[in-house]
Amino acid sequence: MKTDFLVIGSGAAGLSFALKAAAYGHVTVVTKGEMTECNTNYAQGGICSVTYEPDTFEKHIRDTLVCGAGKCNEKAVELVVRRAPELIGDLIAWGTRFDKTPDGRFELNREGGHTEHRILHHEDLTGAEIERALVESVRRHPNITVLEHRFAIDLLTQHHLGEFVTRHTRGLACFGAYVLNEATNEIETMLSKFTVVATGGCGNIYSTTSNPVVATGDGIAMCHRAKAITENMEFIQFHPTTLYNPGEKPNFLITEAMRGFGAILRLRSGEEFMDKYHPMKSLAPRDVVARAIYSEMTKRGEDYVYLDVTHKDPEAVRSHFPNIYEKCRSIGIDITRDLIPVTPAAHYCCGGVKVDTDGQTSVKRLYALGETSCTGLHGANRLASNSLIEAVVYGDQAARHAAAQLDKTEFQEGIPDWDFEGTQHTEEMLMIIQSKREMQTIMSNYVGIVRSNLSLKRAMRRLSTLYEETEELYGKTKPNRELCELRNMIAVAYLVIKQGREIKESVGCHFNMDYKQSEK
Ligand code: FAD
Ligand code: SIN
Repeated sequence: MKTDFLVIGSGAAGLSFALKAAAYGHVTVVTKGEMTECNTNYAQGGICSVTYEPDTFEKHIRDTLVCGAGKCNEKAVELVVRRAPELIGDLIAWGTRFDKTPDGRFELNREGGHTEHRILHHEDLTGAEIERALVESVRRHPNITVLEHRFAIDLLTQHHLGEFVTRHTRGLACFGAYVLNEATNEIETMLSKFTVVATGGCGNIYSTTSNPVVATGDGIAMCHRAKAITENMEFIQFHPTTLYNPGEKPNFLITEAMRGFGAILRLRSGEEFMDKYHPMKSLAPRDVVARAIYSEMTKRGEDYVYLDVTHKDPEAVRSHFPNIYEKCRSIGIDITRDLIPVTPAAHYCCGGVKVDTDGQTSVKRLYALGETSCTGLHGANRLASNSLIEAVVYGDQAARHAAAQLDKTEFQEGIPDWDFEGTQHTEEMLMIIQSKREMQTIMSNYVGIVRSNLSLKRAMRRLSTLYEETEELYGKTKPNRELCELRNMIAVAYLVIKQGREIKESVGCHFNMDYKQSEK
């Protein structure tokens, strides 16, 4: 199969790119589940954009930089903040409805780390509303083909032409991807002029996460194997307030916008505690709040703290947070009267595949967008509600950049089909699922909110055993989604541990995260 633009992933990043690129050529979107199975669909709080005074671009830029703890790329911050209003206009033109006040102005939320109200939203279901509008627009578009239940396994490069490639190979380029069709179990060779990896985050490398099960870091692992550069992977963001409801996966999010609305964090004794940690108290940047909660829980041997919104007008609480109200009610908590038990969970990958301001990776003809990418916008800690806007701004940047080169780019000849020789269907599905759990436990126990050199070393040692066992199994197995995800999750976990500055030199294990011979 040949297509001008191959987009892997159907969240805000992939679909907004598709809608822009389709003006120039044919776009094929592949996604591993149904179209709406993505982090975008779960976003609650909203999407940032400077809209009214007294807010200014300068304030949004400053809040982003402060939150990013000195690790942001200022060019990326400027770009996203200044282009945000225009891209919000595109989302509205595609049919997204943001809430308005009775006088017709946009109603703006506030979240942790923001010094102004600047977050456009749709109730507490902003992501689902954006995704609905994007999916409907994409489905209507004559130049876009969507293929669901297609799992991208690996990116095609000169490696597949038999050349030896490294991260330093000049002219290293991407020619498309091998994609598993889950209905037929065939692996399709999809050739493209440009490939866009928009596969979202990797929350599922941890036992507890706000991310849906599709977030297994596939794109980051694929790009790493294709020899693209990744960075900042150690900066995994933990959301401070997910609903404490043991046994439920993923953890249901209690949006930070509720704290922006006035909700207060309390210990189980009822005492407030955030004043000990930050002048912005419950609305401090997310990493500060997550560490404070973790520290209080650890001191007391407890698994949760409370979020209290009972002092606010019940009708206003219900109308601002209808989704959260209903969810909590379904497990016997009336948030207008009862305290909400909350606990931190893995939420967002601030690092990823390194890209420039056009979303280009270090590999030619390969773009990474959205949570898979590392634009440098977020630095060490993402400012709340800055990721959806990053996804659509960079979707636009990349579409323009790729479109400008479309006429001078040819499909690559000579890429072989997937080589199944020496492999068979595995009978070890249970073990694969168990291995995923084992690696999630390793990451949660040793690479969580608080880490030390010793804990990282221990994680790496435990992970290396799993890595070896998984590679051995992969070498003799016809690829299936579970096994590929496990392999990707191990690769991403490895990067999270390895890119931690302290540990860089001191980890003894060597992981050869490479293509397998059979993939040639
Ligand atoms: P996603 O939306 O996750 O899409 C990734 C897509 O790739 C999915 O369709 C997936 O199925 C597909 N995929 C993955 N691997 C493969 C593969 N191997 N082959 C084929 N397809 C694949 N951010 C905000 O700015 N504001 C918020 O209010 C907000 N709230 C959030 C609440 C929750 C609960 C969560 C989890 C996140 C929230 N975020 C929020 C973060 C934000 O939602 C995500 O960072 C953003 O939606 C990522 O968009 P994306 O397009 O990069 O990835
Ligand atoms: C939230 O609504 O608290 C999540 C916002 C985000 O992750 O940006």
